[in-house]
Amino acid sequence: MASDMSGYQARFAVFTEKLQVVTPTALSLPALAVVAVVLLVTARCPSFLGRYEQEQPIVGTSAPASLALPSGSSSSSSSWSVPATARSVARVPRECDIFRGEWVPVPDDEAATYYTNATCAVIQEHQNCMKYGRPDLGFLRWRWRPERCELPRFDAPAFLDLVRGRSLAFVGDSLARNHMQSLMCLLSKVEYPKDVSKTANQEFRTVHYEFHNFTISIFWSPFLVTANQSDPAGGLWDLYLDEPDAAWLAAVSGFDYVVLSAANWFTRPSMFYEAGRLVGCHFCLVPGVPDLTLRYSQRVAFRTALRALSTIDGTVVVRTLSPTSHFEGGEWDKGGDCRRTRPYGANETRMAGLDLDFHAAQVEEFTKAEAAARASGSATRLLLMNTTAAMLLRPDGHPSRYGHWAHENVTLYNDCVHWCLPGPVDVWNEMLLQMLLD
Ligand SMILES: *[C@@H]1O[C@H](CO)[C@@H](O)[C@H](O)[C@H]1NC(C)=O
Ligand SMILES: *[C@@H]1O[C@H](CO)[C@@H](O)[C@H](O)[C@H]1NC(C)=O
Ligand SMILES: *[C@@H]1O[C@H](CO)[C@@H](O)[C@H](O)[C@H]1NC(C)=O
Ligand SMILES: *[C@@H]1O[C@H](CO)[C@@H](O)[C@H](O)[C@H]1NC(C)=O
Ligand SMILES: *[C@@H]1O[C@H](CO)[C@@H](O)[C@H](O)[C@H]1NC(C)=O
Ligand SMILES: *[C@@H]1O[C@H](CO)[C@@H](O)[C@H](O)[C@H]1NC(C)=O
Repeated sequence: MASDMSGYQARFAVFTEKLQVVTPTALSLPALAVVAVVLLVTARCPSFLGRYEQEQPIVGTSAPASLALPSGSSSSSSSWSVPATARSVARVPRECDIFRGEWVPVPDDEAATYYTNATCAVIQEHQNCMKYGRPDLGFLRWRWRPERCELPRFDAPAFLDLVRGRSLAFVGDSLARNHMQSLMCLLSKVEYPKDVSKTANQEFRTVHYEFHNFTISIFWSPFLVTANQSDPAGGLWDLYLDEPDAAWLAAVSGFDYVVLSAANWFTRPSMFYEAGRLVGCHFCLVPGVPDLTLRYSQRVAFRTALRALSTIDGTVVVRTLSPTSHFEGGEWDKGGDCRRTRPYGANETRMAGLDLDFHAAQVEEFTKAEAAARASGSATRLLLMNTTAAMLLRPDGHPSRYGHWAHENVTLYNDCVHWCLPGPVDVWNEMLLQMLLD
């Protein structure tokens, strides 16, 4: 039974890998057909996908023509940058736990979304649910209401004022990207950034909001620690659980804010190394190598990353996992889907299984790292962004089959992992703003 679960997780891993494919907004239909073929090939050959990913843009390099920019050229006017002192920002009372609450319906006439796929050019192709024909817009008519306060709507000018002259790094996997793109869409009302990336690698982007001198970077690091795909054919990974990933380690020390997240990739079959020695594995099926399970690697990798981050002179926001459990009617590769059109009530579901274990490990490791940082007099501020419970209630917010055209032969892959943009994931940034105001 335990090994059945591991097998499921291993196959699930391939699913999440597939979902990283980035396709540019202007793809033609024949190009999409190519993507479909690529997806099918890569289900069997993940390394091919690894190469393919690198070539696709993650963020637009310029605002689309349809974007409503303020009049005048974007480089000649700073009239839309409001002085910090001119704004008062709605904030929640200190004693309010913004992560505990429920989703409540918003009356139709108040259900103005922050942006659409026409006003935001950086929506990841597979999360552009409107484009691919999602028929029900009901999932946009809910807002998160904490138990003891109201969560203010995202205030883009206030956010940009707050982060003026500062920098924010996202470290993690495709859900970190989902989060970043939501933030960029929310901010696009005020300003569109320039892509100032120093590398062609699409998994490492840096954008700059020049009127606010605000920088956002994203660092691809799905395991947070050093990882190497040692066996491309079998998808086996070597994880160096006590080595923070060099992909972000040195780079983030200059950032004012680092948003850290990871979970899904630990489902991949992997070998675990500590102090350079093989200590165990997850679903490697190698005789003599103890299967310590993905619960071990996820916890130790988090501990390692948090320990390394506890030395930076900035704020570290640890976002707890986005639920992995929203497939219904089958596993992801056996017809499982997420077709609900409304959120769960707070009493209709509860965290369980892998979600519960990952969440508990993340919270425990965060708590330990926070205490250690405080005891050592570190300048690092560690904040927990406890989004798992809120998102657990939103099985209706995923692309499901609206992450691609209906005629594409990828019907096995209903996406119940990532989030539609716009969608409930935008609440992460409403929460982030409140956390950074504190
Ligand atoms: C995270 O949020 C959930 C739901 O509100 C709650 O049960 C849990 O105790 C929270 N964890 C922490 C560490 O705040
Ligand atoms: C946005 O969604 C609409 C459907 O609501 C679709 O017709 C259009 O092609 C999409 N546009 C972009 C740029 O994705
Ligand atoms: C922009 O912000 C960076 C820090 O992120 C700072 O070093 C730089 O001096 C700022 N530039 C201007 C023009 O204010
Ligand atoms: C990563 O794995 C490949 C085999 O796929 C191997 O050739 C390479 O040496 C490994 N790299 C490191 C740094 O261990
Ligand atoms: C859930 O809560 C709602 C409102 O608080 C209540 O009406 C409903 O009966 C509850 N459902 C269950 C299954 O407890
Ligand atoms: C879709 O792809 C699968 C796997 O390659 C294949 O077995 C199936 O026949 C295809 N279906 C259609 C409608 O092309």
